Amino acid sequence: MNEPLKRVHVLHGPNLNMLGKREPHLYGSETLEEIVQSLVSLAGELNIHLTSFQSNHEGELVDDIHKLFEDGIDGVIINPGAYTHTSVAIRDALLILPCPIIEVHLSNIYKREPFRHKSMITDIATGQIAGLGPQGYGLAVKAMAVMLHDA
Ligand code: DQA
Repeated sequence: MNEPLKRVHVLHGPNLNMLGKREPHLYGSETLEEIVQSLVSLAGELNIHLTSFQSNHEGELVDDIHKLFEDGIDGVIINPGAYTHTSVAIRDALLILPCPIIEVHLSNIYKREPFRHKSMITDIATGQIAGLGPQGYGLAVKAMAVMLHDA
């Protein structure tokens, strides 16, 4: 019998809508749309329904996390952008979720300015992937698939 489709949501914080144009030496040349497209097809192969949301506004990200809770989402992958380093509100919202959470960063935040070394969510996330560019999201989807289908 086929396993029920698991639902995974990918959240992108501020400035990630500018991928492809924004500091390409750090963040690469792929656009967010291209990254999400390839994640949707990868997820399909792994029996996962993948949705995604990007916002430049902290409160909108918090609202989206609340919706995920109400919808009973199975897993969340999040790159909070600069809010990684500052947002108690996003941390508190994520703490409401009972599902696995994977934190992703395109760049290796530990090789960059000291203010980027601290993440507000690493200690509440299931795991973190940083510094592998867009393929970090793909690895997060694969890890999520293993966790959710083995659960
Ligand atoms: C980022 C790293 C953050 O420090 C930065 O503010 C971003 C992107 C990354 O994906 O490498 O916007 O989260």
